[in-house]
This record gives sequence, structure tokens and C-alpha cells, in this order.
Amino acid sequence: MSDSNLLAQLQASFIGRDTEYPTVNGERSPRVYLDSAASTLMMAPAYNVGHEFLEHYASTHSDLHYAARGASHAFEWAHQRVLEFVGASPDRYCSFFAGSGATAGFNRMAASLSSARAERKVVLVSEMEHHSNDLPHRHHNSQVVHVPCLGEFERYGGLDMDRLGEIFEEHGENVNYIAVTGASNVTGAITPLAEVAKMAHAVGAYLIVDASQMIAHTPVSMDDADIDVLVFSGHKIYAPGSPGAVIAKKDVLNAIKPTELGGGMVDDVYIAEYMPTATLPDREEAGTPNIVGAIILGAVLDLLIRAGMDKVREKEIALIDFAWNGLKAIEGVMVYGPEPSDVPRTGTIAFNIKGFDHGLTAAAMNDFHNIQVRNGCFCAHPYVRELLKKELWEMDIDPDAPNAEADVERKRGMARASLGLYTTRADLEALLAAVEDLAGRRDEIKSLYQPVGSNGYRHSSFSPAAMDLFDPERMLQNFLDTPAQNATE
Ligand SMILES: Cc1ncc(COP(=O)(O)O)c(C=O)c1O
Repeated sequence: MSDSNLLAQLQASFIGRDTEYPTVNGERSPRVYLDSAASTLMMAPAYNVGHEFLEHYASTHSDLHYAARGASHAFEWAHQRVLEFVGASPDRYCSFFAGSGATAGFNRMAASLSSARAERKVVLVSEMEHHSNDLPHRHHNSQVVHVPCLGEFERYGGLDMDRLGEIFEEHGENVNYIAVTGASNVTGAITPLAEVAKMAHAVGAYLIVDASQMIAHTPVSMDDADIDVLVFSGHKIYAPGSPGAVIAKKDVLNAIKPTELGGGMVDDVYIAEYMPTATLPDREEAGTPNIVGAIILGAVLDLLIRAGMDKVREKEIALIDFAWNGLKAIEGVMVYGPEPSDVPRTGTIAFNIKGFDHGLTAAAMNDFHNIQVRNGCFCAHPYVRELLKKELWEMDIDPDAPNAEADVERKRGMARASLGLYTTRADLEALLAAVEDLAGRRDEIKSLYQPVGSNGYRHSSFSPAAMDLFDPERMLQNFLDTPAQNATE
């Protein structure tokens, strides 16, 4: 099969892409899923590999019974797929799985690097970071310097490389590492990683990359960019339920001590002492791993390697331009982040409709148009506040006010449409038509909604209960209704 045929086949393969939901007008229609930056849909052929594996299920770390041998082989295969996907040669790099997303990896690296190189007291973090690549570094290090971005107000974004150079000069060999996102989860702004690595290495600092938002969108080569550590969530690349992945230079891992302890990572244990193994990745994978999730993730990565991430990127760029230009052209719509022509970006676009709080936009997009977008500050509060600063000042709101009251929360945020491999031009046409529709009947829409919680909205007469949409107990009912058939002697 040619690469482009495979890509088309993969695009059509996602579970839940066309799930139908009810809308305000009493119809049911297939959803338009534009919430991929939060979590992506499941790629069916990869899921099927995981499902098939269950026929052979056993835990790893044994070679003697057939199933354990197969599981150990498949788990090892998943590690190799991760390395290949991020362009990390196995002689320099090692991959390991951790937690249920990227957060576990950042906590792990922050804890171990801060104690392994305690003499280097400074850590750099960009102002665009998701809290998950900011707070662990604050917690484990005595001095975190936040690196600003380019531009101002609604165009703020993209690392300010000149300022970064000055900060490196100022702190020199006191810098332990810089932790920076490969692409922002708010605006999609992409970071020039190879240049950052050069600057970091000039003072002996490491580069830790948060690849959560770039992994499914652009090709990455750790070898070429000389990245020391890269972390991503499997659920952001078409494998919900899979673990987080950490890929690190072996030199870096050999210089740190494991921070998670338990079974599978020791050579021997006595009452008086224990000996962690030197074998990687075992030393970093304490406990029984998420084997099924890792295999599904490995299968996704294998398929995307075959289809070509350069092709994925090419396809997405055309869609980004279409959505960005289309949203910008709608009167009363503000889009956030640098222009795509100034800073390259992934398919994540934050926007607001004038006169609508972000929660109202998300609720009405769902209820009237069956379009699923996220809203709020996306766990990147400092960055979102910076983007909104001018608008909030104009509303007489202090964006930096701590413990904001609910009405401030309601204003402080955006709606976010984010793309995945399954996103089509028709999805984005639907997005533009929906935004245009809502912007054209502000007063009517506003009159139909009540505020709920700190930043949500509910339609006053239309709001299907969560259990009417999906109910695990209802799913079990068939099984519970036919006990005789299910019973085994
Ligand atoms: C850029 C970025 N980094 C880190 C994370 C945290 O990932 P997880 O919640 O899977 O640990 C996210 C999740 O939204 C993200 O978008």
C-alpha cells in the first residue's frame, strides 16, 4: 500500500469519529470532534492489536511460558517503536513508559535531575507551558526562571530566542536544564528545538521537551535536534488508555537515581539493603507495566511511521491555514497566538466570540451544532492570561487577580478547536459556519443559557444527562440479564 493510501485508510479508521448525539433542534447527528489537544480518538487497527494481545495476555518479565514470552517481546517492541518514532537511535537513547500521560515523566525528571545536579540551581521554563511542564520543576528546584515569548497581547507566543540567549548568559553553568514545550497546547506555536538545544548545551544544561502537543502533528528527530529528554502522552496520539512515554539519552539516565521503586527494577533485595538494576529501561519501570496500553501505542506509532509524519504535517498545515483565516475573517471573532506566517504552529486554535464567555461558546457549539471544543485556560494559566491581558483590562478586570471570582473565571479563558488526523476540511467548514451562526445571534443564544459552576453554561431547557449519553451500567445489562449463558462450570 502506498503511503498516501495508508494515510487515507488511517484517517477513516478512528473509533467514535461519527458517534451521534442529539442537538437542540431535536435531531441526532454525527459529532465533529475538535478536542484532540485534550485527548485524541482511538486508532482502530492499533486498538485491535491490543485486543488480540489479550488472547495471549500475561505479564512481562518472563521468558518461560509462552504467553509471558510473547508479552515481553511485544512490550519490548513497543519501546523500540517509540524510539524509532522520535528519531532516537537506540545506541544513544532509551525509552520507558510512565504513568498515564506526560505528567508522570516531568515529575520523574524534575525530581531526579534536581538531586543529581544539585549544584546547578536554576531551571528555565517557558511562559507557554502546560502546568504539567511547569509545576514539577517549581516543586523540585529552588530557582525557576520563566522565559518570555515573542509579541504581545493576543499575538503573544513562540519562544523569544534573543531573551533566552540573555538568560543563558546571565545564569551560565548554574542552569540545570530548560523545560520547554515542542508546541503550545493553547496556540500551537512551535519551538525551534535544535536551536534551544545548542544554547543549553553551550552551558552544559539539558533540554527537556514536552512533546505532548507536537507528537501527533509534526515529525521529530531527537538525534538531529540533539534533545536530551522528550516526554509525551500516548493518549494524545491516538492511543487513549496508554501510558506516558519518556525518551532520554542513556548518559542522562545513567547519571540519575530512580525515583520510583518497587518490583522489576532491582537486582536483589535483602532486609538490610537493596540493589537497583543498572539495566535500562527496567530500572525506570517499577511495578507491573500498562502492557496493553504500551502495545496499542506501539502499534499507532508503527502505522504512523509507515504513513509518514511529514505527510501528516503537510495535510495539517493546509487545514490550519483554512481554519485560522476563516475564523479571523468572521466579524467579532478573536483568534489567539502568533500569525502562522510568523511562528509555525500545529492544529490548535484558541478563539473567542465577542460578547460570549468562553464557556457559553463551548456549550452552544455542542448543543446547536454538535461540535466538541474545549474551553477555559487549558492548564496554561500564565500563558492564557498574557494573551487576554488587553481584553480583560478593557473590561476592567485584572487578569492576574488571584482567587478570581466566578465572573472573572467566566471571562478569563477561550474556546479551543484542535485537530487530529481524522479532522477533515468539512469539519472545519462546520466549525466556521457554527461560529458565524452563534456570532450572528448573540442575544438570542445568551437568553437561552444559565451560568453553572465557575465557568460553565447550561441551556435552560435542553441538557441530556451524562448517563443518557453513555452509561457503563447500561452496557453491562445484557450480561447481567443472561446469567445462565455466562456461567462456566
Ligand atoms: C502541552 C501539554 N503538556 C502536558 C500535558 C499533560 O499531559 P497528561 O495530562 O497526559 O499528563 C498536556 C495535556 O493536556 C499538554 O497539552
